[in-house]
Amino acid sequence: MLDMNIQESELRQRAMQSSHLTEVLAIEQHSQAMPWARLSFEESLNRGDPCRVVLHEEKVLAFHVCSLVVDELHILNLAVAKSAQGIGLGHFLMRDIIGLAKEYGASKVFLEVRVSNEIAKTLYQKWQFEQIAIREKYYRTPDKQREDALVFVRRLNN
Ligand SMILES: CC(C)(COP(=O)(O)OP(=O)(O)OC[C@H]1O[C@@H](n2cnc3c(N)ncnc32)[C@H](O)[C@@H]1OP(=O)(O)O)[C@@H](O)C(=O)NCCC(=O)NCCS
Repeated sequence: MLDMNIQESELRQRAMQSSHLTEVLAIEQHSQAMPWARLSFEESLNRGDPCRVVLHEEKVLAFHVCSLVVDELHILNLAVAKSAQGIGLGHFLMRDIIGLAKEYGASKVFLEVRVSNEIAKTLYQKWQFEQIAIREKYYRTPDKQREDALVFVRRLNN
């Protein structure tokens, strides 16, 4: 799909570097209910976790942060810049993550999502993730309540 004068062939995936963090944090703060602090991104980078950005003309449009645990890839965070949502970058991120999982020889990809996050849930279902559990009151909400997390898994046959 992709619009806003962005062609898929102009997008690049790159390993996230600390030099990307200012842009990543801006996306995080404008798109997440309870944004991660810079330190959380730095910890993932310092651990050497698989974290990537999607660039268009050197501008960060989207990112993901994952963690490899034996043969499981866990998606810890992902977001698309608000101004670029709804044009297919979520699909682009998922394609990148599933490709990475296969490269690492992972057999499963796990993630948790807020029960209220309908767009993300739809995206994951389109990528054949199945809901396997509910973690009750797992997430904090901006109004100091708690919200359930749904745990999804995508099984890969490498
Ligand atoms: C969830 C998120 C990553 C999806 O990225 P996106 O680039 O907006 O999504 P895409 O344009 O690739 O669309 C993916 C699917 O989501 C659904 N979707 C996207 N925008 C939608 C909207 N406005 N209304 C309803 N469904 C929508 C559609 O099913 C779409 O698939 P389709 O185009 O094949 O119909 C993005 O909205 C985001 O960053 N949200 C805030 C952060 C977040 O929630 N991260 C996930 C935490 S678990």
